[in-house]
Amino acid sequence: MIKWKNRSEFWITGAEIAAPGRKKPAPGCIHLKRGIIEELVWKKSVETDLPVLELDGYLLTPGFVDIHTHLREPGYEEKETIATGTSAAIAGGFTTVACMANTDPVVDDPSVVRYILDRNEQAGNCRLYVIAAVTRNLEGRDINEFGLLREAGAAALSDDGKYIANARVMRSALEYAGMLELPVISHCEEISLSAEGLMNEGYYSTKLGLAGIPAETEETAVYRDVALAGLTGSRLHVAHASTAGTVEIIRRAKERQIPVTAEVTPHHLTMDDSMLQDYDRNLKVNPPLRSREDVDIMLDALSSGVIDCISTDHAPHNEIDKEVEFDLAPPGMIGLQTAFALLNTELVETGKLGIAQLVALMTESPARVLGIPAGTLDKGAPADLAVIDPDEQWVYDRENNRSISSNSPLIGRKLTGRVQGVFVGGKWTSTV
Ligand code: DOR
Repeated sequence: MIKWKNRSEFWITGAEIAAPGRKKPAPGCIHLKRGIIEELVWKKSVETDLPVLELDGYLLTPGFVDIHTHLREPGYEEKETIATGTSAAIAGGFTTVACMANTDPVVDDPSVVRYILDRNEQAGNCRLYVIAAVTRNLEGRDINEFGLLREAGAAALSDDGKYIANARVMRSALEYAGMLELPVISHCEEISLSAEGLMNEGYYSTKLGLAGIPAETEETAVYRDVALAGLTGSRLHVAHASTAGTVEIIRRAKERQIPVTAEVTPHHLTMDDSMLQDYDRNLKVNPPLRSREDVDIMLDALSSGVIDCISTDHAPHNEIDKEVEFDLAPPGMIGLQTAFALLNTELVETGKLGIAQLVALMTESPARVLGIPAGTLDKGAPADLAVIDPDEQWVYDRENNRSISSNSPLIGRKLTGRVQGVFVGGKWTSTV
C-alpha cells in the first residue's frame, strides 16, 4: 500500500509514465502544484527541495475517464449510489465519469442535474459529468430544454437504454443539441427488430433455444443516426458499438467527414456469445455479447481509430433482479472496477494491444469525445492520475467489490494489473 500525506506541491518520481500520444511508457517525473500538473520531465529522478513521492515499479497514467456509467441515483439506490459507484470508479483508476440519465426521476430537468452534482460533491471521490436525457421521461416524444440542462451542468445528451424510434424527434434533437455544441449519444437498437430477443442471433442462440437479436438491430439504427448526423451536421456519439457492420458504417461516415464518434465496452472486447452456454445472467447485456468474429473486429476498429474509445457501460443490478430465469433478468453488468485489469489481462498481456494504446483509449480519447478537460498529462491539466501495479495478480471478489451490486461475470476471476490509488486534483486516495 502506498502511503502518502497530502501536500499542495510535490514531485512524483521513479514511475513508468504512460502518456497519451506516446508509443510506450517511459520513466518520468511529474510536478504537481495546487491540484494541477505543473511539469512532466522524461527522467527517472529530479533534484528538488520539494517533497517527493517515489513510485519505483509502478505505472503512472492520467486518471481514466468513463463516459458511460449508470449510477442509479436518484431512484434506484438499492442497486448503486453516487458514492458507491464513484468509489468503484476510483478503485478502477477512473478519476472522471459521466453518468447516464435513466434514473428515477429521469435526468430531464435542471434540478436533477444539480442534485446529482451536489451528491457527488458530498461523496468526494472523483469528478462527475451528467448526461441529461434527450426526451421527457425517456419516452422518445418531447424534446427536453437542452439550454437549461446545459446551464445546470449537463455535458451531453442521451436516452441511453432506449432508442429514439422517431427519426423526426432525433433530427430535431440533433439540430437543437448542435446549436448548443452538446453531443447526442445514441443507444442504437431498432427495437422492432430485437423484439423479444435475449442474446445475439446466430449459432449459439439456435443451440441454446434463446430468441436472437440480430446484428442488424444495431446496424439499422446506427445507419439512420449517422444519416441524421450528416443531415444536421451535429455531433453524434454511438454508445456501446458491438458489431462488424456498425464498424463499417462508422468507417464510411468518418471518411465522408460526418461528425460521428463511437465507443466499445470492455465486455464487447473480451467476451462472446459462446460464453452464454451456462445461462449466466451476468452475461446478459444490451447490446448482447456478439460472435467471436465481431469481438475481433471491434479490437481492430479500436487500433485503426474507427472506434474512438472504451467506455464501461457500468450497469448495476441486484442479485434479486438477476436471480430469475434468463429471459426475465434485466440486461447489464458492472465494470468500473475491473475495466483496466480485464483489458490488461486479456489484451495487453496477450500482446493484442499495447499498454500505452489501452491507456489512451481510456483517457484522452473519451475526454475528447465529450470535450472535457481530462485524460492528459499536459502542463496546466488537472492533476488527476492513476497509480497502477501492472504485475499484481489479484482476485476480484465480493469483499473487494465496491459496488452495491455484484452483477459481474468476473467475480472470482484472477486478473493481472491492479490500481493502487488515484490522485484527483492532486489529492491522493489509496484504493487497496
Ligand atoms: O446492458 C445494459 N444495461 N444496456 C443498456 O443500454 C442499459 C443498461 C442499464 O441501464 O441497465
